[in-house]
Order: sequence, then C-alpha cells, then structure tokens
Amino acid sequence: MDGKYLTYHGLLCPKETHCADSLKYFEEFQCRDDDVFIITYPKSGTTWMQEIVPSLLSGGDLTAVTTLPNWDRVPWLEEKRAALYLKQRPSPRIIVSHMPFHLMPPSFLSSKVKAIYVTRDPRDVLVSSFYFHQMASFLDDPGTFDEFIEKFLNGEVLFGKWTDHMKSWQKADIGNKIMYVTYEAMIKDLKGVIGSLSRFLDQDLSDEVLEAVAKHCSFNSMKTNTMSNYSLVPQQFMDTSKSSFLRKGIAGDWKNHFSPEQEAKFRAVIEEEMEGSDVKLCWSE
Ligand code: A3P
Repeated sequence: MDGKYLTYHGLLCPKETHCADSLKYFEEFQCRDDDVFIITYPKSGTTWMQEIVPSLLSGGDLTAVTTLPNWDRVPWLEEKRAALYLKQRPSPRIIVSHMPFHLMPPSFLSSKVKAIYVTRDPRDVLVSSFYFHQMASFLDDPGTFDEFIEKFLNGEVLFGKWTDHMKSWQKADIGNKIMYVTYEAMIKDLKGVIGSLSRFLDQDLSDEVLEAVAKHCSFNSMKTNTMSNYSLVPQQFMDTSKSSFLRKGIAGDWKNHFSPEQEAKFRAVIEEEMEGSDVKLCWSE
C-alpha cells in the first residue's frame, strides 16, 4: 500500500494522524460512563456532529465550539493527539471514532457510554471523499472519478469498505446506548434532529436554545467558524485552492458526478453486499 497509510486490522489509516502508539492508546482506552461517542465512516457528517453535541451538552453555551478547534473539543480516539486532549478532560467527554464496532476498546462495551452513529448516502460519501483526497496532502491522489469508485467499492480507502462499517455499527448489540442519525435527516430538519439528540443525551433544552444551536450548526455558519472549517490547518496539509473542507454540504451531490452506468453499478454492488444484513439502506433522491 501507499507510503501515506498504515494498515490496522486491514483498515487504512493516514500515517500523518495515526501511529502504533495512538492505536494502542485507542485499544486500551478506559471509557467513563458519561462519555459520549460520535461514530462515523469518514465524510458522513463527523465535523457537523462535533459542532452539535458539544453545543447540546453545554446547554446551548457556544463557548467551546467558538474557541476550541473541532479536533481538540471532540478528539478522534485513534489519532495521535487523543492522549494529549483527553488526559485531563473533565466529564462529560465527547470523543469521535471512525473504527468499526468490533474493534472498539473493551470498556466501550462494559461502560454506560452513549454513542451516536451518523450515516450518509454512500454516493455522497464517495463524492465528498473524492474532493477530500484532492485537497489533503496526507491522502493518496484519488485518480479519476471512475478509478476512485473502484477503490471505494474495494475498500481501498480510509477505514475500509463502507458496507462493512455500516453492517458493523447497525448491528451493534448495545441496546439504547446508541442513536442512529442520517446526514439526510439533518439536511431536512436540523432542529428536529437536534431535538431528538438532546433527548437522547438527557438535555432538557428550551425551544429557543434548540433554535440557536441549529442556527449555529447550519452549513453557512460553520463555514465561517474558524474553529470548525479547518482553516487553521496549514495549506500544505489541506489545500483549500483545490477544495474546501466544508465543500457543498448538501444531499444528492452524487447526481452531479455519477454517470447512470456508474451509479447503477455502484448501487448494485452496495445492495448486494448489504443483502441479508437486515440493514435498511436510505438512498437519497
Ligand atoms: P461535502 O464534501 O459533501 O460538502 P466529515 O466531517 O465526516 O469529514 O464530512 C464532511 C462533509 O460534511 C462535507 O460534505 C461537509 O461539507 C459536510 N458538512 C459539515 N458540516 C455541515 C453542515 N453544517 N451542514 C451540511 N453539511 C455539513
């Protein structure tokens, strides 16, 4: 595999952000009962949730989301800086991970943590990822769109196959510790989803607070928040002349990229791999 990646249980992780020590820290991590996990396959709405959850857990106080970069306020558990950020952090900690369920540390299962799993139409995940690979120097060049479709379907992308990630988390047997959210539902009714999330997180927030959080977490507002739009990352790592991190923020951009043949093939492969899994696929129109 390319020199930019390391392989962890068959999954590709960028060397820039992951190393043997950080993965060991991930494996041995001791969860607290009041930890909140955000789980995503990359490009499904991670950054969005890194804005929403801290805003809800603070009761609508936007200090954290306007003063701390998203990777600090909600660190990736498997990444190099996790130990630094999480060491002294008071409860409740908010942590993000791209790992599949079966690789989560044992204390994830034995504790009472809550988890929010965000999914997105895989065609839009692929498009978002395609542009991300163009702008992020720590990732492989994606090649042509057609080549990238092949890589995506073969799982030769960050954190492996989308279908494996979906099956792993959608079938996670952890009862009401997990809430499933779709990117498309957030696009459709952000305040409604934020209300459901606040109830899941046992936050009794007024309508005004939910309204204010939804406003702050809108695409246009986040695009101008330097703590969330990745503008603090040097150009040599993320070249915004090629693409923005908060790029379009819509559902259905796949229509502007897939040919009918590419889409039919992509959909057939995904549906075949998900067959028999009891997981309902939501294809956006
Ligand atoms: P696009 O590239 O399609 O615009 P992740 O954070 O998991 O890497 O996902 C990034 C994707 O989420 C990008 O998609 C980004 O624009 C989108 N996103 C982030 N915040 C958003 C928001 N407030 N509203 C809509 N989409 C958002």
